[in-house]
Amino acid sequence: MITQYKLAIIGFGNVGQGLAKILSDKYTFLKEKFGVDIRIVAVCDLNKGSIADRNGIDPTKLLKHIELNGDLKNFSDINTDWNAEETIGNSGADILVELTYTNLETAEPALTHVKLAMNNGMHISMTNKGPVALFFPELKKIANKNKVQIGIEGTVMSGTPALSIASEMLLPAGITKIQGILNGTTNYMLGEMEAGADYESALKQAQDLGYAEANPAGDVDGHDAAAKVVILGNLLMDLALSLSDVDCTGISKLSPDDIKQATANNKRWKLIGNVEKTQSGYIAFVKPQMLSYEHPLAAISGATNAITYSTELLGDITLIGPGAGRMETGYAIIEDILSIHKNK
Ligand code: HSE
Repeated sequence: MITQYKLAIIGFGNVGQGLAKILSDKYTFLKEKFGVDIRIVAVCDLNKGSIADRNGIDPTKLLKHIELNGDLKNFSDINTDWNAEETIGNSGADILVELTYTNLETAEPALTHVKLAMNNGMHISMTNKGPVALFFPELKKIANKNKVQIGIEGTVMSGTPALSIASEMLLPAGITKIQGILNGTTNYMLGEMEAGADYESALKQAQDLGYAEANPAGDVDGHDAAAKVVILGNLLMDLALSLSDVDCTGISKLSPDDIKQATANNKRWKLIGNVEKTQSGYIAFVKPQMLSYEHPLAAISGATNAITYSTELLGDITLIGPGAGRMETGYAIIEDILSIHKNK
């Protein structure tokens, strides 16, 4: 039996285009092998324009148009003048794919989009960390009330299934501590700087490769990693962390001399995120640490991330995989949809 899923995509930057490319390449495979007929029925982007077609929009055509024109204006007669809210209300979609810019102060506009969609009976798939780090318990209540599901796999380690593996298979083993490299941009930059690049050009490369946030301050100041610490702690350790509970230092103050000094001592800098339960509560932080070359996390390079889950029953389990990128994060939406399909 084949089940159809109609996606309304809000925000069509790197991740949305990565998702469209995956659907362009894998639509038939996903349908035949997993029974899901995944169609994009609407795309709405503040700068690029809006389109909608209840029968489905050809993702190959969509990408070609963006490549040639840079936006969706003049796509065809399926252009609309809908804003995000109108797209959610009018498109006939059953899943909102929320891909607008992460806002770690108010979570808007994503928060409004997600609430509206759930109250309209739509499932959610989001890679946007704002609503998840700031309002997840409230969103879960709205989801339960409306009998819909929320997929958030892409909020931590992009398409590497760090959240589903942990929440489905490691929770019973008793997770006591989670530590790792949780930001692709800074890990990539630290590697480039160790190889001699200056800070600005390393950041520019990370932006060009689609790793950085729309505002890369969130990456280099450590706030993106801190949001992931909050998400991990709350989802997997029953904590009720806010961003202000995470002691956060980024990489922007690391000087070329700091990097050279580490190399001279057979060490390298890594931005480490950590959350652990203690007898008196918890410890949660993000900070640059100098690791010796033998340390397991020292070898994690580029935009790759790694998470070590320390558990009571299994000891340490480490997951290494992509932490950022167009296709890598676009793939997280596919995982969310398959999970929605399985749990329906
Ligand atoms: N800017 C983020 C990073 C994207 O570099 O890790 C993935 O959350």
